[in-house]
Amino acid sequence: MEKLVSSWSKNKPLPESYIFPPETRPGNLIVPTCKTIPVIDLCNAEGRNRTDIVQQILKASQEYGFFQVVNHGISENLMNESMDVFNELFEMPDEDKVILYSEDPKKSCRLLTSSLNYDREKVHQWRDNLRHPCHPLQDCIKHWPQKPIRYREVVAALSIEAKKLGLRILELVSEGLGLESGYFGDKLSEALHLFVNHYPPCPDPSLTLGITKHCDPNLLTILHQGDVRGLQIFNNEEWIGVEPLPNAFVVNIGNQLQIISNNKLKSGEHRVVTNSRVARTTAAFFIAPSEDSIIEPAISLVGEALVYRAFEYKDFLLDYLSHMGNNEVVLG
Ligand code: OGA
Ligand code: NI
Repeated sequence: MEKLVSSWSKNKPLPESYIFPPETRPGNLIVPTCKTIPVIDLCNAEGRNRTDIVQQILKASQEYGFFQVVNHGISENLMNESMDVFNELFEMPDEDKVILYSEDPKKSCRLLTSSLNYDREKVHQWRDNLRHPCHPLQDCIKHWPQKPIRYREVVAALSIEAKKLGLRILELVSEGLGLESGYFGDKLSEALHLFVNHYPPCPDPSLTLGITKHCDPNLLTILHQGDVRGLQIFNNEEWIGVEPLPNAFVVNIGNQLQIISNNKLKSGEHRVVTNSRVARTTAAFFIAPSEDSIIEPAISLVGEALVYRAFEYKDFLLDYLSHMGNNEVVLG
């Protein structure tokens, strides 16, 4: 509990244990503001704009593995209410947060800090993290936080909407790839996990990171990043910032979608930098295969070269965790 950055960091200098080696720290690098990821308007995606939107999604997923969506159908009110609840959660006094904090990996809903690897990692990441499954809702909701009092109601509503949005986008992706309708439905997109990340103001953002460079191991991620900058993606050997846009979600391709598409789509590498002025809170919904799903490239996309062998998703996760998201190791 005393490890949570949000509990100890106010008015303290940056501890040695948060200083990254020169090759991975952000330094004073200013990311180019002229470059950013595509913004895709989902208005009429099921109607007259469909073909155009499918092409935009495909292109963004090939070039960046990332895009933002607007006019996605999730209400502004629900987006704002959920961000309020997430912020309130991290502003709660320590006696409320201690109930959620746990170092037991078997606990389905828990608050932790940095990563699953806190005791073994060389450098800690500047973030606290609440994580829990969202599906099946009636089984997992009873383990969710009871405070803030509106947490369960608001987050249940947002998780249902985020899943629906994810499935809509996956349907557009499958059309773009020429796969049959519903290809990513059922088991490949059965699981849903929420990470609420909280990055308190940091005394020296040039020396540390909120999250180190990684790809998400799941199928597709839907991120509500609020209105504070911090997310950066690594593209063509440079870091580019993901501009916060009002009422937008950031969408990124996970490792499983890269594999199933036989590398036609790319799982974009990304990281989070901190800032010294304001706390940043984000909510990432990870749509993932059920653990016993068999993952393999779609037959029609294999062509001459089969890039990946079939495997069970749970084995991928074990491998991912043991390498802590180092993409070259996992996909190699
Ligand atoms: C993640 C992630 C980005 C952010 O949780 O995997 O990349 O901006 N989060 O919090
Ligand atoms: Ni991520």
